[in-house]
This record gives sequence, C-alpha cells and structure tokens, in this order.
Amino acid sequence: MQLGADDALVAVHALRVLRRLAAGVAAPRWQMSGFARTPGATPRPMTGRNLMGQVDGTNNPRPQDPDFAAKVFATGPDWMAGGSYAVLRRIRMLLDDWESLPTDRQERLVGRRKSDGAPLSGGPDAGERTPVDLAAANPDGTLAIAPDAHVRVAAPASNGGAAMLRRGFSFHDGLLADGAPDAGLLFAAFQADPARGFVPVQQRLARGDGLSRFLRHEAGALFAVPPGAPEGGYVGQPLLEG
Ligand code: HEM
Repeated sequence: MQLGADDALVAVHALRVLRRLAAGVAAPRWQMSGFARTPGATPRPMTGRNLMGQVDGTNNPRPQDPDFAAKVFATGPDWMAGGSYAVLRRIRMLLDDWESLPTDRQERLVGRRKSDGAPLSGGPDAGERTPVDLAAANPDGTLAIAPDAHVRVAAPASNGGAAMLRRGFSFHDGLLADGAPDAGLLFAAFQADPARGFVPVQQRLARGDGLSRFLRHEAGALFAVPPGAPEGGYVGQPLLEG
C-alpha cells in the first residue's frame, strides 16, 4: 500500500487508521518513508529535484499521450485489467562522492543541465522541455549526450521502446555506521508489463549507466496493483472472490 498526502501528519494518521481497521486480517511487514517537493514551495508547480540535486521526472509518459494507457495500464489477467505493475527500489546515493564532482561532470553523467534540467544536446537556449537529441554532437565531434549518460541509457529509444511512469520519492533515514548519509531515492515506476518496462531498462543501466558508480540498489520489489474499486466494491475483489 502506498499512502501519500501533502502533509506528512495526514499520511501518518491515515496509516494508523488503516492499521486499526486491518487488525486481525493484515499486518505490515515493512515500511519506508519518502518525501517529494512540498506543494506551494515554489510560486508555480515545477518538476521536483532528487537528493543529487537534479531535476527528476521530466521525460515521463503523460496522460494526454495517445499511448499512455498502453504503456502504464495492464490489460490482463482479468483481475488486473486497468491496474498497473509497480516496481519499487530503495536506491541509496553515495552523496559524499557525488558532491565532490564538479557540476559539469555531474551534468555529463546525466545528460542534462543541473540548474534547469535542459538536455545537453540543446545548446545554451534549451529548457527543461526541449526534446533530447541523442544524435547531436559537440563541435569536437563527441556526442552531446555522452554514451554513458543516464538519459541516453534509460531512454525508450535505447531500449526498444520500453517505457514506464516514474513516481519516486526521496528518503533520508539518518546516518550509516560509517557516518555516510542513509539517503537516496525510493524509485517507483508503474507500467503495463515489467518485462517491457523496468526490466530491460534496468538491465541496460546495470551495464552502462555512468550514474551507477554513485548508487547502491539495496532492495527491490514488484507489486501487482489492481485497478480502482467500483462503487460498493473493494480493491482486488475479483481476485479474492472470483
Ligand atoms: C537514484 C537513482 C536514479 C536517479 C538519481 C535518476 C535520475 C534521473 C534524472 C535526473 C533523469 C532526467 C530527468 C527526467 O527525465 O526525469 C532521469 C531520467 C530517466 N530515468 Fe532515472 N534515475 C535513477 C534511477 C533510474 C532507474 C532505476 C530507472 C529504470 C530502471 C530509471 C529510468 C529513467 C528513465 C526511463 C528516464 C527518462 C529517460 C528519457 O526518456 O529521457 N532511472 N533519471
């Protein structure tokens, strides 16, 4: 179950209420807390940043895209039709190492400018929404988006069209024994079929993502998220009673 609210107090209260209601039927086995940008923190809504400081969430499928449903919502089995498969990873960031890099090296490892998220293929006038051009070259002939840049390796164009809706949250759970921050990204991605979404992209990232040297994947899980319940029904009813 994922609980979210603009105000953390509300989320914790909902958690307490649900725990009480589920007593004797279901019990939590583990729990993780994450946070995202605070609504109202900027004058207008903006794409948030992760704890590495990057604008994160720009190139996501959008509900108005004609193929959004095909990418995100499952078509079967029956009890999953209209639901989605959610991948969750606890990815710790080696922030001390990352922050010791100069900004231009950080930007090359992602393929986007740190200040505003503009793609490095777009020139000085590019903005966050400028399309990424994976073929663009620098004046010296090298690729503007480096071969190991995260956005190149993760892009649908590099993975046979594999796409997912990323909805991650940051976590910061204090310090590890060696004093390093226990902090990073609770990566969450929704897709119609993980075999055509997360799995091929993660396999490719594992082989060639420049960002990997600054990340540690610590835990991962795949969840079947059934569709919303009709009036009078409950989530997962066709599976449990069908
Ligand atoms: C802590 C780990 C990660 C960090 C810090 C990170 C950061 C970023 C950033 C800054 C972008 C560019 C902005 C955007 O389009 O949202 C991006 C894009 C993307 N990331 Fe990650 N990411 C991480 C892990 C992952 C993982 C595990 C996957 C999937 C297996 C993934 C898949 C993608 C995809 C598909 C894109 C969009 C690429 C495109 O089409 O342009 N990322 N990520």
